[in-house]
This record gives sequence, C-alpha cells and structure tokens, in this order.
Amino acid sequence: MKINGQPYRTIHPIGHEIVQIIDQTRLPHAFEVKPLSNVNEAAEAIRHMLVRGAPLIGAAAAYGMALATKQGVDEAWLDDSAAFLMATRPTAVNLRWAVQRMLNVLKPLPETQRHEAAWFEAAAICDEDVALNQAIGRHGAEMLQALYQKKGRPLNVLTHCNAGWLAAVDWGTALAPIYTAFEAGLPLHVWVDETRPRNQGASLTAWELANHGVPHTVIADNAGGHLMQHGEVDVVIVGADRVTATGDVCNKIGTYLKALAAYDNQVPFYAAVPSPTIDWAISDGLREIPIEERSADEVAWVQGKTTQGEILCVNVLPQGSSAANPAFDVTPARLVTGIITERGIAAPQAMKLLYEG
Ligand code: MRU
Repeated sequence: MKINGQPYRTIHPIGHEIVQIIDQTRLPHAFEVKPLSNVNEAAEAIRHMLVRGAPLIGAAAAYGMALATKQGVDEAWLDDSAAFLMATRPTAVNLRWAVQRMLNVLKPLPETQRHEAAWFEAAAICDEDVALNQAIGRHGAEMLQALYQKKGRPLNVLTHCNAGWLAAVDWGTALAPIYTAFEAGLPLHVWVDETRPRNQGASLTAWELANHGVPHTVIADNAGGHLMQHGEVDVVIVGADRVTATGDVCNKIGTYLKALAAYDNQVPFYAAVPSPTIDWAISDGLREIPIEERSADEVAWVQGKTTQGEILCVNVLPQGSSAANPAFDVTPARLVTGIITERGIAAPQAMKLLYEG
C-alpha cells in the first residue's frame, strides 16, 4: 500500500539496528512511525497493540528475535527472548509460528552467524507475508468477481475488525481480495464493523479504505444482522488469528455473531487465512484456542478526537460497574462458507486438501 504516493510496509528494518513500525494506537488521528531498538521494545509494542493483527504480530516477533541478537546470541538468551515474545499475546498463532521459525533457523548455526541470519530470516518472513496476502487477494477477488456476475450490481461486502494492510506487512488478508477486486474495477462498497472495544474497524479499516479510495461505511457492531436481513450484505470476509485443522475460525470478538447472522440469511461467510495462521495441531477451536482476556479499561474508556482537534479518552461506564473483555471468539467451521488461502478457496472441512501433496 502507499503512504504519500510511495509504497510503504507496516514494518521495516533500518540496517541491522532498528525496526520501524506504525504506532497504530495513534490512528486514525495521527500517522506516527516508531523505532524499536531492542527485544523489550518489540514485546511491548505487541503487548500494547502498537502493532496488532495476526500476520503483523508474527512479523514483529520475528524482528523482535533479530533485535535480541544485538544483545546476545547464545542459546539461553535466544530461548529467553523467544519465551518473552511468545508471552505477549496468546491467541494469534502467527506469533509462536514466527518465533519458532526463528529459533529453528538460528540454533543450528555457529554463534558468529546468528545475528546476520536473524535479520535475514525476519525479512524473509515479511516478504513471504506479502506474497501470501497477494495470492489471497487474487483468489478472493475471483470469488468476488463471480458473485458480481451473479448479482449483476455493485457488491456490498461486510468485514469485522481490521484485517487489512495495517494488520499484515502489506495488503492484509480479508482486505486483500477487496483491494485486488477494486483495483480491477469491480464496483463494491464495504460495511465496516466499528469493532468495539478497540475500534479496529472504525479507526483502522476505515482509515485504510479511505486512503485507498474504496467506498465504505462504518456501522455499529450490532448493525450487521439487520443489514443482512434486508439484503444489504452480499458477502462477509473476515481475517483470522488462528484456524484449526478442521476449519474453526478464531477472530476478533463479535465475528461469531456475524457468522450466525450470515448463516441465517444465506449470506456467504469467508475467512481469509494465510498458512501461518493455521494451527494444524488442533482440531477443536472452542476448547483448544486460548482466548486473550484484555483489560476491562478497554471497554470502559473510549478514545476520540474533539472538534477542536484534541485527542481525549472518556469513560462510558457508570461508577461501580465492572466490565469484561474477551478479545476473540471462535466461529465453528459449520458456519463458514470457505477459507480463502494462498492456495485457493476451500470449504473449511476440505482446507487440509489444499496443503496435501
Ligand atoms: O486484537 P487485534 O487487533 O490484534 O485482532 C486482530 C484481528 O482479530 C484480525 O481480524 C486478525 O488478526 C486478522 S489480521 C489479518
């Protein structure tokens, strides 16, 4: 994607010393780039959601390992750094996948080669993420094109949370088909769920789509079902933080309710999923995927900008009320029409076939 007309990735190294990220907690009101210079800063950026979205969390953790090699390269330090990074957020499997891949590459090497190799491998993970998402974009755009032929009018696509460029290294997962189809001239409009409590839809997806000129409308999280009942949604595409081998889809809290409403209204429901998001070791999403419980403050406090341009946080709860904040939910495979992967689109139960052979 582009910033000021120039291609821009959400994460990139400056030499073998610093990694630059976009501080997503400042969007949509300010576009601020932040340097990370050690593994501690990388872990904090993930924990406090300066970077977020499963593929970007993986990329940031990989660069976190590269940053760690500035301080040490012996096995104990690498293991400690890996454990420290893995403890930042529990749900997106990309985090563990990326850190484990870094360990698998680094440990067999002589210590003298580890620093160089770590930066090389983190860059490879980022390049691969871009290629995977572009392939998802192509497959998903074909699906949208076919739907457009069938409907014979501009498409309305609903998405939840942010699974776009900002959630990955580039392109995004759920938004990649939208960007690809839009650039090919397919007329479409996107319903953007605001995605309380962190408002990734309103603050990030809407910002991305506006930047790219894609027609879109932000809706309250609870509006999707109503729009589906009235034929205003042709297809739902979401991203994922972890997908089981059997096609259960774990994604931002509220995704399950959209899937239920889509199922009830015969609206196709797709998850766009690059292979590092698939956890082949598990088959029961409800029981086996750890759901992150985040601070109740994220429910109680809402950030916004006043008409005077001041960024403020306001409390929306009465004094004495408590809040709970499960950050993800699991949509069972039976509610999912298809998984859009870099290898093509498959019914969730048949996803495995795409990766066999
Ligand atoms: O808590 P977040 O903002 O990291 O959650 C992000 C999501 O749930 C995304 O939908 C998911 O990671 C897919 S990202 C391409």
